Amino acid sequence: MTQARIQELRDQLNFHIHRYYVLNSPVLSDAEYDVLFRELQALEEADPSTVTPDSPTQRVSGEVSDAFEKVAHTSPILSLANAFNGEDMRDWEGRNRRHLKDDPAAEGDWDYVVEPKIDGLTVVLTYENGRFVLGATRGNGEIGENITPNLLTLLSLPKRIPVDPKSGHQVPPRLVVRGEAFFPLSKFKSWNQGLEDAGEKTYMNPRNAASGSLRQLDSKITASRPLTMFCYDIVDWDDDAGVVPEMQWDRLQWLKELGFPVAPETTYQKDIEAVAERFVEWEDLRNRIDYEVDGIVVKLNNKPLADTLGFTGKDPRGAIAGKFPAIEKTTKLLDINVSVGRTGVLAPAAVLEPVELGGVVVRNATLHNFDEIARKDIRIGDQVWVKRAGEVIPYVVGPIVDLRDGTEQPIEIPTHCPSCNEPVVRIEGEVAVYCDNPSCPEQLVRRVEYFVGRSAMDIDGFGAQTAELLTNLGMIKDIADIYFLDREALLELEGFKDKKVDNLLNGVKNSLQQPATRFLTALGIRFVGEVVAGILLDEFRSIDALAAADQEAIEAVHGIGSGTAESLVRWFADERNQALITKFHTAGLQFSIGEKPETVEGDLPLDGLVFVITGTLPSMSRPDAKKLIEANGGKVTGSVSKKTNYLLAGEKAGSKLTKAESLGVTVLSEESLMAML
Ligand code: IVH
Repeated sequence: MTQARIQELRDQLNFHIHRYYVLNSPVLSDAEYDVLFRELQALEEADPSTVTPDSPTQRVSGEVSDAFEKVAHTSPILSLANAFNGEDMRDWEGRNRRHLKDDPAAEGDWDYVVEPKIDGLTVVLTYENGRFVLGATRGNGEIGENITPNLLTLLSLPKRIPVDPKSGHQVPPRLVVRGEAFFPLSKFKSWNQGLEDAGEKTYMNPRNAASGSLRQLDSKITASRPLTMFCYDIVDWDDDAGVVPEMQWDRLQWLKELGFPVAPETTYQKDIEAVAERFVEWEDLRNRIDYEVDGIVVKLNNKPLADTLGFTGKDPRGAIAGKFPAIEKTTKLLDINVSVGRTGVLAPAAVLEPVELGGVVVRNATLHNFDEIARKDIRIGDQVWVKRAGEVIPYVVGPIVDLRDGTEQPIEIPTHCPSCNEPVVRIEGEVAVYCDNPSCPEQLVRRVEYFVGRSAMDIDGFGAQTAELLTNLGMIKDIADIYFLDREALLELEGFKDKKVDNLLNGVKNSLQQPATRFLTALGIRFVGEVVAGILLDEFRSIDALAAADQEAIEAVHGIGSGTAESLVRWFADERNQALITKFHTAGLQFSIGEKPETVEGDLPLDGLVFVITGTLPSMSRPDAKKLIEANGGKVTGSVSKKTNYLLAGEKAGSKLTKAESLGVTVLSEESLMAML
């Protein structure tokens, strides 16, 4: 049983090693590989008689391509033991301290350097008499590939390092520096897209892109790519002058002074507790940097002490890798689920064989849209890469085409809405496929949810669950029905006691006072979010005026594009939406912007002026006059005082007019007010 599992793990690991190092096309993430590797390691440790020399645990992984001249590394590139949390790190220090318990040099505090564990391509750079003479890949750790001409194209790589700027000494006649070359994340996506547009093979991830770029036979190709690197170690040197510092932190500073790039996120930590805290900080930091990391490397600052510690197997004791949970894994795409969003857009989502990703079990992932599915040629039954970065919802990166067995099914763009079965609509120049039916049931649930939600009408006591329930029960057939809910009918629902129903209905009633901008946003018209709604109402002043405007008039508004204008015209032209608007009018929602909200002073004609209104105005009601004044920056108060600037007076003005005259306040007619505006 165990023996069979050991053999299975070895076969699997060998397969993945070959794909990773030779084919440059891994089907497992490093973290997944680690899981298999550790299982094998544990089984072999439990019964050392099972260990064979050809086991993947016994070799330094990696193979060397014949395309390049081979280079023997003067000091082999080893691997690192892993730690997954602060506890593991404390244990690691504990073990090391016990190992050196009789060594006086090991007394006192141990300090550390925490570096990013960059997920790129290891490079070994040799300098002779200050001149860069040889650059090699990691290869199998003992023998690498000579890629000097390609490395010479890296702008960040120093070609000469003549003297130590501090001491003025010559640098050691021989100096071997190690670092990691990588493809900046910010450049990867658009560059890969460029390859695709040109019909060339694209890269799976930045690591493969870095590796592929550095292992080009024509260095002009390497030169055309935005590769860069960070250095993190000095591995070999002749140093009679003693200029190479002893401590890791000082070494990194020295490397920087010589012109080597060192990751700016590298920190000095005074003890292992500080290291553990820094590890936690990295969980967030990793999402904000321009290169991929799969963890951190914690190094004992005291290099001589690290050397005394020596090795366990292939791992140096003086350093450990702090590994982050994997955020990218492969799993099987079982099916796709098409849902209808509130704007009618059909959104394909992947149904996956459950996979643990960064601490949570992932069953679904977004597939963005049907264009992207076609572009990436994702098929049902494919093994796919799934990635979860930061807080973002997991997404399907792409299929592993090589693992297909012919049973995979292409994904077809739906011709009909999965919820209401009406034919779908495609708009030219847009990738989205959408359902145009305003009474589509699933769309309606999403619309109601959105209408009552925080960013729209913000109705207290009306959550997503209530929205779903009332819609599914048919008590809400369109979003305006929210304002015509029947108290008695609600009371009959399970769990809807007096208090809950009152809260709900009060919330709905109060929302009648929400400003028109929120109301317009809440309608959920495609491309019309909060900001666009604000711009539109600033111009048109009311939703009715906006509804009456044509495409040209809407497009003429600064900040509004033709897509938005088209979407609005289309929405208001639909009879079903017109009926909705009528219903909202009946319910008493705010259709126009009364007060101009939070405008910058000095922008408006009546800014800072105080008005009082009295009498009957010829063409408008007093509340309308108040709104007009306020919309133009003025303030309206109830009684005349020394602070009043103007009295707006109509027919039958009484005591207020007398008071204004006695205080010398200017009296305005409606006509002169309009003239002021
Ligand atoms: S130090 C004994 N520092 O990780 C090995 N390695 O698992 C000491 N790596 O092969 C390595 N960033 O390719 C070290 N700041 C860093 C690193 C780093 C990435 C890679 C390197 C090495 C592997 C070790």
